[in-house]
Amino acid sequence: MPARNLLDLDDLSGSELTYLLDRARTFHTTPPRRDLLRDVCVVNLFFEASTRTFVSFAIAEQRVGADIVALPPGSSSLGKGETIADTAITLAAMGVQIIVTRHPESGFPYRLAESFDGHVINAGDGRHAHPTQALLDMLTLQAEFGRVEGLHVVLVGDILHSRVARSNVLGLRALGAQVTLVGPPTLLPEAMALEGVRIERDLDAVLPTADAVMLLRIQQERIASAVLPSLDDYARNYRLDARRLTALAPQAIVMHPGPYNRGVELTEDVFAFRGWRYAQQVSHGVYIRMAVLDFLINGVSVRA
Ligand code: NCD
Repeated sequence: MPARNLLDLDDLSGSELTYLLDRARTFHTTPPRRDLLRDVCVVNLFFEASTRTFVSFAIAEQRVGADIVALPPGSSSLGKGETIADTAITLAAMGVQIIVTRHPESGFPYRLAESFDGHVINAGDGRHAHPTQALLDMLTLQAEFGRVEGLHVVLVGDILHSRVARSNVLGLRALGAQVTLVGPPTLLPEAMALEGVRIERDLDAVLPTADAVMLLRIQQERIASAVLPSLDDYARNYRLDARRLTALAPQAIVMHPGPYNRGVELTEDVFAFRGWRYAQQVSHGVYIRMAVLDFLINGVSVRA
């Protein structure tokens, strides 16, 4: 019985996670048949700004042959007082089978899924989860190292407000990576330490043992100004710059989900670094989203 939704990575078993990564790699080498999602109607319901995720889903949907409708932010009747449940019922009545949604409220896709008689894919909800971003990040690690298990992955920055960090922690732990979170107490409370997850305040101390460093944007729009550290302090302690790049091991890579803020979490030196993998991450996003769409509609393909 295929999964009904992808709301966060804890919706997937370890073998399903591995399957999606394998399937995405297959699609990378052999483009999928254009009829994998023939006659499947997908609505992209994005209530928050998005460049990468929105376009990547749209391309993925086209490549697997889905019928696509994008509902621009502000155009849905949710703004006229229609409830989430009524929106879900309305879309299902038109034969929509998949809703891909992004929303500033944590939990929005879960509420949508309760009333929607189809599949919901979470493309980012508040500070809660962003499962397809974490999947594409793990695909990038696999492409680089041939595995995720045993890698030391260091996530740096505004962990508290980051849905990317939260979903990555779930996925990386499930696949056996060693995870270190780095940031100031205001952006990374002690309480975020979980089994298999270490908290570190000193970035310079962890860089030499990192296989991958994931930089995160300070999510200004989700932060009360009182907890925002001064950007100068932040940059001094956590910005990846020319000096810190030299502390990395020769095989280490640097990742960022985008959008990045030059001068805050990184300097332009990072763009010239041999291990900068931002473009690969973006490219992997299309394959992983094709794999997710295919998996929700067709289940596990025996030809994978
Ligand atoms: C992230 C997001 O929107 O959650 N970007 C993305 O989807 N690639 C990260 C961010 O906004 O900082």
